Amino acid sequence: MQFKNDLILRAAKGEDIERYPVWLMRQAGRILPEYRAVRAKLSGFKELVETPERAAEVTVQPVDLLGVDAAIIFSDILVVPEAMGLEYQMLEAKGPWFEKTIRSVDDMKNIDVTIDVEDRLGYVLEAIRLTNKELDGRVPLIGFAGAPWTIFCYMVEGKGSKTFSESRKILYTNPTLAHELLSRITDVTIQYLKAQVKAGAHMLQIFDSWAGILGTEQYAEFGMKYLEKIANELNEVPLTIFSKGAITSVPAIAKLNCNTIGLDWNMDIVETRKIIGESRTIQGNLDPCVLYAAHSEVEKQTIRLMDSFTSKRHIVNLGHGVYPDVDPEKVKTFIKTVKDYELRF
Ligand code: CP3
Repeated sequence: MQFKNDLILRAAKGEDIERYPVWLMRQAGRILPEYRAVRAKLSGFKELVETPERAAEVTVQPVDLLGVDAAIIFSDILVVPEAMGLEYQMLEAKGPWFEKTIRSVDDMKNIDVTIDVEDRLGYVLEAIRLTNKELDGRVPLIGFAGAPWTIFCYMVEGKGSKTFSESRKILYTNPTLAHELLSRITDVTIQYLKAQVKAGAHMLQIFDSWAGILGTEQYAEFGMKYLEKIANELNEVPLTIFSKGAITSVPAIAKLNCNTIGLDWNMDIVETRKIIGESRTIQGNLDPCVLYAAHSEVEKQTIRLMDSFTSKRHIVNLGHGVYPDVDPEKVKTFIKTVKDYELRF
């Protein structure tokens, strides 16, 4: 594939770059009035995710409107548990909700043992193909999936939670069941990510949004073990692992077979660089709340972030998804500041 802008791929691989690439987690979404207009014509979020033409349209919007250096396919991590047999609903102002959950060995019957991802998640793969036609090589397209631990949390809890205590409870009361479920999620996720690459994803990111609720040892056993398996199976395109809040697991994450490590805004760039060395790219990590500040402050904080970098191996992003009520003009200031910044290395 010949790209007009392949900065992000070069940054991920540790190759030479002329400036830092930039994109935002959750860039395709409610911050853009153009997204809300497309969504308003449909019954809701799920129909948008499941209609490849519309999903492709909103995937390309931030490239056209914000000038980001990568597109990320418009979908959700929850399509995987659904493909496995647990249907979800996206409730207005409440978030995801699953009717069936996994809390016992008996509940495992709700899950299909083998599934064909090309069939059940074909709508995502079609959206990837359509997006690439639309992008025409302007920027690379990022595919993604949730990490097994985070998907496990939603399958057990059935909704969001402050503590995810039902999920953590199982780790103590029935670790065998936990491993069984995590293994099944892992197998489907590997198949799904491979299918995304085949359909045209040029990079992959794994979101482990709830990594930070486990202690280091438990994260090693119930999180990292499965991330390692996934990372070892996916060698075709650059891979980013974003384990939100897993500060103490950074040394272990740095040993995974991945190119880029995503950092949330609680993690320190200088300290992390010392731990991981130059063999991985760092992605992140501006506090998403900076984008509520005045334009001059957005610029200042963004420059401050890049001033803390000690090498070229960086992809600039927020430390988590952009909040839906952020002014897109602030996002543009963030992006412009990155693009105008002169490399010191
Ligand atoms: O980044 C992108 O622009 C691509 C699309 C994307 C979405 N969700 C679209 C979405 C991606 C990469 C995700 C990942 C995702 N989904 C994660 C991991 C990242 C993270 O935020 O930690 C998680 C945990 C989910 C699960 C999820 N999806 C929740 C908890 C919610 C409800 C909260 C919310 O933001 O409304 C969603 C809904 C969702 N996923 C929306 C979007 C644009 C909002 C739905 C809408 O349009 O109303």
